[in-house]
Amino acid sequence: MDVQRIRDDFPFYSIHDLVYLDNACQTLRPVQVIEAMDGYYQEYPACGGRSVHRLATRVSIAMERARESVSRLVGNGDPDQLIFTKNCTESLNMVSKGYPLSRGDVVVTTDIEHNSNCVPWLQMADRGVRKRHVSTGEDGLLDLEAFKEAMTPEVRMVSMVHTNNILGTTIPARDVVEIAHDNGSLVMLDGAQAAPHIPVDVESLDVDFYAFSLHKMLGPSGMGALYAKEACLESMEPIIAGGGTVGMTSYDDMQLLPSPDKFEAGLHNYAGIIGSGAAAEYLMALGMDQVREHDIALNRYLSSLLRDLPGVRILGPEDPGLRSSILSFNVGGLNPHDVAMALDEIDGVLVRSGYHCCHAYFNAHGIKGSVRASTYLYNDRRDCERMAQALRTLIAKLGK
Ligand SMILES: Cc1ncc(COP(=O)(O)O)c(C=O)c1O
Repeated sequence: MDVQRIRDDFPFYSIHDLVYLDNACQTLRPVQVIEAMDGYYQEYPACGGRSVHRLATRVSIAMERARESVSRLVGNGDPDQLIFTKNCTESLNMVSKGYPLSRGDVVVTTDIEHNSNCVPWLQMADRGVRKRHVSTGEDGLLDLEAFKEAMTPEVRMVSMVHTNNILGTTIPARDVVEIAHDNGSLVMLDGAQAAPHIPVDVESLDVDFYAFSLHKMLGPSGMGALYAKEACLESMEPIIAGGGTVGMTSYDDMQLLPSPDKFEAGLHNYAGIIGSGAAAEYLMALGMDQVREHDIALNRYLSSLLRDLPGVRILGPEDPGLRSSILSFNVGGLNPHDVAMALDEIDGVLVRSGYHCCHAYFNAHGIKGSVRASTYLYNDRRDCERMAQALRTLIAKLGK
């Protein structure tokens, strides 16, 4: 992958001399995405799917194209099975609250879930749905034997993070789906950190629901998506309904439309959807295999630079090849936020710090958060070197 050429697509780099390593939160956008959104606002800022004038028709067509592009990116052959949402959190909530689960049903997660795949299930306790979690151990790798043991007959749903946002480890999704289906359980994967970084094929995975964020993969802020199998979508109730979700209504009755309309209530973020389509096209043109290789090569390099710095402890497996694009670490007893602020002050190195919305995991492991560097396709070895140098400067200042 020609990273220098890729960087030319990102206006951010012609404005800033910063090292952006907060990609697990959200990524930068290439000019192709920005222009697609600008095009909507400047040339056809109308409402799709409702009005029938020429601009509205153009919006509807652009929306359909975007749905096809994002579907293709994750291996979904039927765009009607892809719902646009405002983020991965909304996608996960749509399933936890909209799929018909009953009192006594059990949902199995891991112990390293983002709050977005933990809190919605905890809320379901009010309806008698219980949550159970399987350990990923010190190295963050799912224990398949423990998972099999957790799969009792009451388990209706397995809802797991595909690649987690603390350690960057990935579950063996194919095995998980097979074991769950043998048990008669459905599977939802939280793909927020997987879809941007590895090739995902929802059909060959045979997964029932796949939730992901588009702002973590070059798309506009506040965009996500949910893929689901047709039968699952038919069984699900929309958690928000209203304009655009129904065919005919009377004062007393209504008829919900089929997916995706059933789940996309009200006026949409058209620019966001159109920009997401452009982001998916950009990624497909590069090839997700290439993106994965780049992420891992960079993680190897960054890990090699940080590993032996005094006081630095990298979380998760020793092998960077198992940590996707994520490198979480701590420096002695320093507060992660202090480290993050110092890296920014020393050389404009922008990382994330804190509990990364995974309080349960950190508390269970007795760790008070971490500093997290997360790379993407435009980061290069120079970014890693600047980060390592800034950290070296900080450590030297503190006399560690
Ligand atoms: C693993 C994981 N799941 C879910 C989310 C929530 O994503 P969003 O902010 O798009 O709702 C995140 C965000 O960081 C994440 O890392």
